[in-house]
Formats: sequence, structure tokens, C-alpha cells
Amino acid sequence: MKKSILIVLSVVLAMGTVRADEGMWLPLLVKRLNYADMQAKGLQLTAEEIYSVNNSSLKDAIVSLGGFCSAEVISKQGLLLTNHHCGYDAIQSHSSVENDYLTNGFWAKTKADELPNEGLTAAFLVRMEDVTNQILGEITSSMTPAERANKVREITQKLVKSATEGTTYNANVREFFNGNEYYLFVYQTYKDVRLVGAPPSAVGKFGGDTDNWMWPRHTGDFTLLRVYADKNGNPAAYSKDNVPLTPKHSLPVSIAGVEKGDYAMIMGYPGSTDRYLTSFGVKKELDLHQPNVVKIRDLKLAIMREYMEADPKVRIMYASNYASVANYWKYYIGQQKQLKRNKVYDKKIALEDEFRKWVAADANRTAKYGKALELIEEGTKAEALTEVANTYVIEAGLQGSASILFAFRMGRSLAPVMKDAAALAAAKARFDEQIEAHFKDTYLPCDQKLFAEMLQLFQKNVPADQQPAFMQELVAKKFKGNFQLFAQKAFETSVFTDKNRLQAFLQKPDQKILDKDMVSIVAQDLFAMYMKMTQAAGSAAAGLQEGNRLFVAGLREMQPNKKFYPDANSTMRLTYGSVLDYQPADAVSYNFYTTLDGAMDKEDPTNDEFVVPAKLKELYQKKDYGRWANKDGKIVTCFLTNNDITGGNSGSPVINARGELIGTAFDGNWEAMSGDIAFENQVQRTIVCDIRYVLFIIDKYANAGHLIDEMNLVSTPVTALAPVEQTPVAPVVSPAPPKGKTTAKKG
Ligand code: ARG
Repeated sequence: MKKSILIVLSVVLAMGTVRADEGMWLPLLVKRLNYADMQAKGLQLTAEEIYSVNNSSLKDAIVSLGGFCSAEVISKQGLLLTNHHCGYDAIQSHSSVENDYLTNGFWAKTKADELPNEGLTAAFLVRMEDVTNQILGEITSSMTPAERANKVREITQKLVKSATEGTTYNANVREFFNGNEYYLFVYQTYKDVRLVGAPPSAVGKFGGDTDNWMWPRHTGDFTLLRVYADKNGNPAAYSKDNVPLTPKHSLPVSIAGVEKGDYAMIMGYPGSTDRYLTSFGVKKELDLHQPNVVKIRDLKLAIMREYMEADPKVRIMYASNYASVANYWKYYIGQQKQLKRNKVYDKKIALEDEFRKWVAADANRTAKYGKALELIEEGTKAEALTEVANTYVIEAGLQGSASILFAFRMGRSLAPVMKDAAALAAAKARFDEQIEAHFKDTYLPCDQKLFAEMLQLFQKNVPADQQPAFMQELVAKKFKGNFQLFAQKAFETSVFTDKNRLQAFLQKPDQKILDKDMVSIVAQDLFAMYMKMTQAAGSAAAGLQEGNRLFVAGLREMQPNKKFYPDANSTMRLTYGSVLDYQPADAVSYNFYTTLDGAMDKEDPTNDEFVVPAKLKELYQKKDYGRWANKDGKIVTCFLTNNDITGGNSGSPVINARGELIGTAFDGNWEAMSGDIAFENQVQRTIVCDIRYVLFIIDKYANAGHLIDEMNLVSTPVTALAPVEQTPVAPVVSPAPPKGKTTAKKG
């Protein structure tokens, strides 16, 4: 009796201090900042087993995939697991109407069948290092922002050089806490990454845009790739002589399943967050930026859809582009809604009020931080003057019609070689590549319509004094405001809208032709307007940067007992917490996992987002689940954790207390779409594709069991919470009252 009271008490105490769900931690610092807390949550590994420079550790199985997603090594032969939506572009590039791997999936029968992907890279972190002192040691308070930036660049270059000289490594230095800290990252980056297997979109993208960013989810969002190296294990461009990489570490794969409360952590490459954004920034987002992004993308998507639905070839050409435009279209719809629902603006105001009081209470603080919020307010106001125009320049202009960006990029590449026949000849192969890549995925009738309608929307919504020159000189004067006619003439004549015209032009490029080329003029004028606005905001932008740096430094001083983590910036991070359900709304409660039953329930053969492939249905009906069902005999499709991730984390491994793979993270949830600006403890969740669903699809659906044979499967369950006795964590503040009974304690 006594003993059980003690246990309950210590569990409650541990729960009170274990509030570790928020935070994207730097692996290098985990030992110092988080380790005790992680143990309290149930971690059974040492800190060295997570991050070590000299010995193989978890970090050696984690990959930055092409700089936009994450992936993990799951076999001794360089096999990588990532998300279907991360491999989507690669899958599309190999697809045609005849061989439609997007629709049907792709499975390499042997290594020789694995498909190379031009330009796709896999970077492994060799080490990271705190270089704050090297950099800030050279910065003085009298430096102008430009001088400061130059100094940072100069030291960065030296650090990168000495970290990579005489190696096959590449490196960079990244800024943290808005310029208060700097870290060096050294990578080994492999350039031969091949497509091994992908489920059909009806599995990998099941639920489509309707289910995107939402729970409950039934998506098998995974793809398999393989890293190849030269015979010495070094990075090399694609060659058939390359061999599968022997990794320093590959993750064991746990098929024991997950329970609510189980320890769960994620390591990967989150792209960017804005957790230190002030109320001024939130307001600008809500009033100016986000509604316009949504408005522009609404129209862009409708135009793409029109052409994609009419022609299967066009559907494949635009599949990847459409998916990524739709992804952040829905993201911003959700973010506007949830910033309001989660009262993020009010919370920011409250923090800023506290900050102002803290600053005002002390003369030294006032001298140091007194200007911070003012600088931010002024800088944000200055930015707000051009926010709408900037949004249109990017979303409706340079990224509106693909021809505009293509003209811009070709123009840039061409400028230095235009008058030099030898240099031009030397650049020919590179140009040919660019040209092929562009025309492969651009359907000109669709792009012409995008050109007309995006520019028209621009003209309608951007203030008159921020319109690029062509609006007046070409559209108004020459085409009487008729954007359709303008687009038609531009596409009929431009060298950038016809491969043959472009190749002919490149034989003897002439600036005079470009000066009259309407697509080129649009690209140049848009860019000129963008530069003009950037320059106008120049000093305010520098002030904003300084304000942010001071604000974050001040906050950390104001809350000395709080553990701060830096915003995501595409560097490796670790987030830890547990498998957990949530309550999305009053009287509504969501379970922490979904099953194939739910996919069948959502099935709608008339809606391509909810088609269930015949083979999958058959397996479901026969309950032909092999070793992959849970203890109730069901296939678990997805589950939830309270880990802290964002875009870029897609494809990251979800790892249990013993360092084994239990799933791949692929999404966030609707109720926490504001999460990149403020983490929502109660409702923010990571959506994970259960590894057993991945294995079930590989084995039973694709008959690709040879891939599973490469993996190291383990089936012993992990006890949910490590014995509390070994965790000497005392509550810092009074612990939050426990909610209901603790289900986290097991065994
Ligand atoms: N929302 C996910 C992310 O940004 C992408 C999901 C892809 N699925 C889709 N239906 N578009 O990581």
C-alpha cells in the first residue's frame, strides 16, 4: 500500500516536470539540457548513443534529404525510409502515362532496377560545433549592420574552409536565436540516391488535400530510397559502378507496436519556425501576408486543375507542383484560423508587456534592451508597406507562371556568357539541362493562362505605385488592359515559351532580342520592383533584425530558469515526448491511432483522393496481415505523438526508448496549424505513419519482402515509462495537476 502510494506520487512528480513536448533541440546540447528529462519520460539510451562524434550513434542514421525533407537509414545497405510526399517529385520524374508510378506505385525487383534521381542528395551530419565565440568575439557594438554581416561572412568562410579542406565534406555556419549564437555543421553529402519503392498514391497520398494537415489520418506516406557511394564509401555522382553505402548506423525496426504514453522522439531537419515572432509580426501575417497567399493560390490551383483534369499527361506533369502549392495553401488557411482560435496574438502581447516591465525595472536593462520592441515595431511597419506587393511579386509574379521564373533564371545564367562564344559553348550542356527540365513539366497552354490570370490578379490587388513597369507600358498601353491578349502575344513570340525558338536564340544570343521579349520584360520588371521595395525597407529591415536579436537575448535573460531552444533553420534537431491522443474541441476526443478499418470507412471510388486499391481491399477482406497486425488483429495505419516538428521534418524517424524505429513522421494536425509561431501544448501533435503499415504494404501489397530481409526487425516491447526511482528530478515549480489517471506507467 505504502509502496504504491510512493509510486503514484513519484509518477505524478515526474509528470509535472516532464513538459518536454515543446522544443526542437540541438543534438549536441541534449546531454546538458534535456537528458535527465528524457530519462524521466522513459528513454533507455545514453546521451552518447544519441549524438557522438567518435562513435556511431543515432545521428549517423539521420539524413537531410535534398535540403527539403528528412530520411533515415534502415539497413546495412544504405536503404532509406522517407515520406511518399518527399519522394513525390522523384516518382513523378520517372512517370509517364504508360508507366504511371504515381498512380500504380513502383518497386525495384533488384538493385539494378533502382532508379537514379538527378540532383537528389542525402547529407549525413559528421559533427556540429558551437562557434559563437569565434564569431561574436569579432563583432563590436559600433559596427553597422552591413559591417556586422560582412564580418560574420568572413569568419564563416574561414571556419568552413578549415572544416572541409582536404576532405570530402561540405560545411556551413548557421545563425541561432536571431544572431545571438552560431554553430558550424559539417556534412558528408551523397549525390547518388535512387528510388527503390513507392506505394501507389492511393496509399501514399490517401486522403489527398482533404485529409492533409488533419487527424484522423489513414495515409501510408512512405517511400524507399537507397544511398550509393563509390567503392571507398565516398560521395560520387551517379555511376553504375557505385555501390550501396555501408552506413555508420542503421535503425533497428520495432514491430512491437506503440501504446499511449510510450516514449517517442524524432530526429530530423525541421526547416523553419517563427516561435519568437512578436505581436506585430502576427498581425502582419494575419492582415496582409496569409490572406493574399491563399487568394493567389486559390486561383493558381483552379487553373492547374482545369488542365490536369483534361489530360492525363498534364496531370502527371503538374502533380508535384500542384501538391506543393496546395500544401501551403491549406497551411495558411489553417494557420489564419488557428492563430485566432489559439489566441496567439493575445499571448504575444502578454509576453511583450511582461518584457517591457522587466526592462523598465532596471537601468542596465533599459540601456541594453530598451529599444528592442520599438525597433521591431518600426521595422514591421516598414515591411507592412510593401508586404502585399512582395507577396504578389513572389506568389503571382516570379512563381506565378513557370515561364517567368525560367526567363529570369536563364537571363541570369546567360548574362555573363552572352558576348563570349567560348564561354557560351562551355555552358551549353548546363543550359540544355535547364531547358529540358523546364519544358518537361510545363504545359504551355496552362502556363499561358497562369501568366494572364496571375498578372491580372496582381494588377487588381497591388497599390498603383508598386506596380512593375510593364503593367503600364505593355498591358495598359499596348493591350488596352487585356491580359489574355497580352499573354497570347507574349507566348507566341517569347524565346522562353518555345524550345526551338530558345535553342535558335542561344546559337547567337542578342541582348536586343531579350529587351523586346515580353516574358523576359515581365521577369525583369518584377525583379526590379522587388529590389526597389527591398531597398526602401533597407534600414527598417536592419533595425528589425537588431530588434529581434535584442528581444530574444532579453527574453533569455528575463527567464533564466527556462530552457530555450532555437527556431528551426534546416539543421538537425531532436524532439522528445510520448505517444499521445488529444481533445480537438469541447466534447470531442481523438484516439491516438487509426486502423485500416478507417481507410475502408473513408473509401469513395468516385473520388480519387479516397480510392482504396483493389489489392489492399482484398488483403483487408481476407485479413491477410502477416506479422504486421496489432494485438487486436488490426492493421494500425497512423499514430500520434506530442513531438515538436515542422515542414522539413517530413520523413523523419520516430524512435522509441531503445533507439528503434516505430514510424515515419509526415504531418501536423489542424488544431495546431499556428504551431510554427507558437507551440500548442494541449493540442499540437505529430502525425506518424506506423512502421508496421509500411512493412505490411511492402510485404503483402508489393511482394517486396526482399527489402524487409535487409532490415533488422525487433519485436520486444519497450516498457512505457522507465522506473521513476532512477530519475532524481524535483519539480521546479508546483507541478500541473495530473489530468485523470496516468496511463503512462506500465510494467
Ligand atoms: N502537410 C504535409 C507536410 O507539409 C504534407 C502532406 C502531403 N500530403 C498531401 N496530401 N499533400 O509535411
